[in-house]
Amino acid sequence: MAEKEYLLGANDTELQRLQFQHNVWKKITDGFFDRLSLEKGIRILDVGAGPGFVSLDLLERTGKESEITVLEPSELFINYIKDFSLKNNISNFRFINNTVENTELPANYYDFIFLRWVIAFVAEPELFLAKLVKSLAPRGVIAIQDYAYEGISLYPRGGAFDNIPDAVRKYYNSTGGDPYITTKIPGMFKENGIKLIDFNPHILAGNPSSRVYEWANKFFSTHIQHMADKGIVDQKTADEMLTDWIEHRESEDSIFFSPIVVDVAGKKVR
Ligand SMILES: C[S@@+](CC[C@H](N)C(=O)[O-])C[C@H]1O[C@@H](n2cnc3c(N)ncnc32)[C@H](O)[C@@H]1O
Repeated sequence: MAEKEYLLGANDTELQRLQFQHNVWKKITDGFFDRLSLEKGIRILDVGAGPGFVSLDLLERTGKESEITVLEPSELFINYIKDFSLKNNISNFRFINNTVENTELPANYYDFIFLRWVIAFVAEPELFLAKLVKSLAPRGVIAIQDYAYEGISLYPRGGAFDNIPDAVRKYYNSTGGDPYITTKIPGMFKENGIKLIDFNPHILAGNPSSRVYEWANKFFSTHIQHMADKGIVDQKTADEMLTDWIEHRESEDSIFFSPIVVDVAGKKVR
């Protein structure tokens, strides 16, 4: 199990948020997989897979001959995908209920390693990535989706929510994470003999009836208070930010822009 608690909490509310999040961002993740032209019957490692929503998409894409290792430290999340596989007679999954740091991974084994919204939480991303690269087969591909935490904004501007990007960045930093991690991945790839093959940023935006607005609502309605509880913002500031968010949500002309999510992929060349 994880040495450190997962910043956003491994509980039912977070599981449901991850499911909603998966549906909102699925077309971006699917587009990334389309560009990478994943073959059938490959060995895959889904790192920090959560409840396994992407693992299931990867299975659908790579077929019955593929072998997908679902690595996830939270027992609640991994049990969700274990139960689902049992009920649906899926035998392609292997399960590792642990962190990357505490797992011995096979060398030169996986054809495809995927991690979405995981490496930004990790305190020592260089060691983390080097370990994953060792378990990547020669010519194998490692693909990452995570933040370059800019771009996030709420319109009309001028309220307390304008200060939210900095608060969220500090929230990530509070457990050693890096909300700008994707900007460092190309350099880390180079250090590890990985050739960069894809680097694509994405932003979603919409009004209060859009799914991206609701995705943000699921995060901020819980986590602004958690930021106050952790002392990242004082209670008065947290209250003002939440009130500003709620007031914007009540106006149908308000627009929310997501933070930048970057697809980064590379191929093992040495
Ligand atoms: C935001 S969730 C993303 C889940 C999934 N990748 C997705 O996109 O739906 C982050 C996940 O990373 C896992 N995680 C956090 N630190 C980890 C580590 N050191 N090794 C492996 N997984 C980790 C958490 O338990 C959590 O399930």
